[in-house]
Amino acid sequence: MQNEKKVILDAKGLCKSYGKGEARVDALDNISLKIYEGELLTILGSSGSGKSTLLNSLGGMDKPDKGSIIVDGKDLCKMNDRGLTDYRRKNIGFVFQSFNLIAELTAKENVAMTADTGSDPEIVEKVFDMVGLKEKMKNYPSQLSGGQQQRVSIARALAKNPSLLLCDEPTGALDYETGKQILIELEKLVRKHGKTVVVVTHTQEIGKMSDRIIKMRNGKIIKESVNPEPVPAESIEW
Ligand SMILES: Nc1ncnc2c1ncn2[C@@H]1O[C@H](COP(=O)(O)OP(=O)(O)OP(=O)(O)O)[C@@H](O)[C@H]1O
Ligand SMILES: [Mg+2]
Repeated sequence: MQNEKKVILDAKGLCKSYGKGEARVDALDNISLKIYEGELLTILGSSGSGKSTLLNSLGGMDKPDKGSIIVDGKDLCKMNDRGLTDYRRKNIGFVFQSFNLIAELTAKENVAMTADTGSDPEIVEKVFDMVGLKEKMKNYPSQLSGGQQQRVSIARALAKNPSLLLCDEPTGALDYETGKQILIELEKLVRKHGKTVVVVTHTQEIGKMSDRIIKMRNGKIIKESVNPEPVPAESIEW
């Protein structure tokens, strides 16, 4: 089944190290992976295993020392900063553990900043609808709960209609119930709206909701598994 799916990103032989000699850390140690259109992929691994470095590399925020990342026939690893900025703007939505909203702007303004209104003038309303937060659009971040702020940051990521949504510990700053609601939202984006979503997490159980799981340790992929029957996020417990 995987073979029939379209590969939207193809990474090969990614390496990235920090420091020298004794202090050298291989954050990415010969990582290869493909991302398929419309899948929900979970990247698991303990702290320091290289998850964020990998996600940032796939999103054009970090540059590997070696390897290739092919998207639309182009290699990110060969792009200059301007090319990478352009790639990020057109292709990638990021969701972080800390919501990174601008305090002085309303929820709507935060989202409108990145919105691709050229392709759809109603995109801002639509993405708020998708994350179930239409009634809070006029609120400032300080007037929203953590979970609501994360919904705004997901809406912001969606507003440029990215081909790939990259989420680094999206539930990390949230309590259990709120975190679960966010996972349900992310799941809905894949199952209902056909988005491609990558979720980085420490929490093994979260992998159960996804189509594929990649486990990292010391900068390497130590296990990759396909989940033929993903469990609804609603019924996962951790
Ligand atoms: N800018 C940097 N300078 C030096 N070392 C770094 C830098 N960024 C990451 N590292 C190191 O690279 C390794 C991988 O880091 P990374 O942030 O990718 O891990 P992670 O799996 O995301 O961890 P966590 O779950 O704690 O977020 C770690 O050993 C980290 O200390
Ligand atoms: Mg990290």
